[in-house]
Amino acid sequence: MEYTILGRTGLKVSGCGGPSRLGLRDNVAAEAGAVSLVRQAIDLGINFLDTAQSYGTEPVVGKAIAGLPREHLIISTKKTLPPVDHSNPAEQVIKGLEQSLKSIGTDYIDIYHLHGVEPKDYVFAKERLMPAMRRLRDQGKIRFIGVTEGFATDTSHQMLQESLREDLWDVVMVGFNLLNPSARRTVFPLTAAKKVGVLDMFAVRRALSQSDRLRSLCGELMQKGVLPRGAVNADDPLGFLLKEGLAATIPEAAYRFCRHEPAVNVVLTGTGNPEHLKANIEAILMPPLPAPALERLERLFGALDSLTAN
Ligand SMILES: NC(=O)c1ccc[n+]([C@@H]2O[C@H](COP(=O)([O-])OP(=O)(O)OC[C@H]3O[C@@H](n4cnc5c(N)ncnc54)[C@H](OP(=O)(O)O)[C@@H]3O)[C@@H](O)[C@H]2O)c1
Repeated sequence: MEYTILGRTGLKVSGCGGPSRLGLRDNVAAEAGAVSLVRQAIDLGINFLDTAQSYGTEPVVGKAIAGLPREHLIISTKKTLPPVDHSNPAEQVIKGLEQSLKSIGTDYIDIYHLHGVEPKDYVFAKERLMPAMRRLRDQGKIRFIGVTEGFATDTSHQMLQESLREDLWDVVMVGFNLLNPSARRTVFPLTAAKKVGVLDMFAVRRALSQSDRLRSLCGELMQKGVLPRGAVNADDPLGFLLKEGLAATIPEAAYRFCRHEPAVNVVLTGTGNPEHLKANIEAILMPPLPAPALERLERLFGALDSLTAN
């Protein structure tokens, strides 16, 4: 495993992290399988585990890390935003943290995020929730404050662009992948300026792991004129990567693309499949994609900021 420093937190983290839903959402893995998947990740050198109250995976992480030296692990979890009209939203943040500590079986969280903050929620998060986050940090219950963007709708990173001009976060979780590398232009200069740690989500998702999804997305882009007709083979849009020997699989290409983005500290992998976990770690440890692959991807998708890869 290779380790990087997570911005100003100074934390030494594995270059890849995750997993997220651990297969539980699709019932692919029963809880015991999910626990063993997290154990497998730790055995392979992953020290960064990302979960969230809303995923229902905190108890799995708790079981997987039971008995392990806590100081060797970096635990990241997230608080879903309370409704903006809640009478005491700060109290909800504090209660959420207490529940997460209990579910994971730990007495501190390394990085506690406000989860999926959309542009419309930003002022609420800043004014009504951040005081509670700071209090938790002062009490030592969380070490660093993070935020994750609502990338599914905020594909051009409006919330992060606005909030990073202030100085709220130690760590951000940002959507960045070869189909939407817009964070390179709009977010990473801001994180670099403030030494904010960067966690990369959506490296693969459905479009870069399911060929039918990629076909339909590229079809839509060509119909809208965003991708020139004929720019890619409509039946196999990223087939050139494999045919020209530039990568062995599309997920491999996708993780390598993200891993070697200089601003990215941790590429999260959200797999629930032990074989995928192994392959993804191998991909993340591989060298950058060859220059012809990067140049062609830049020509095709470099200017896009509308996709998630969902
Ligand atoms: N707004 C937010 O806060 C937010 C939103 C989404 C995600 N996240 C975070 O992002 C992190 C990463 O999650 P993600 O969903 O973005 O991860 P991802 O790695 O981009 O995508 C995961 C999907 O790709 C598939 N996949 C992974 N490796 C594969 C392989 N080698 N071959 C084929 N399919 C493969 C997985 O299916 P298999 O299970 O079959 O491998 C799963 O469906 C998580 O820690 C999560 O917390 C945060």
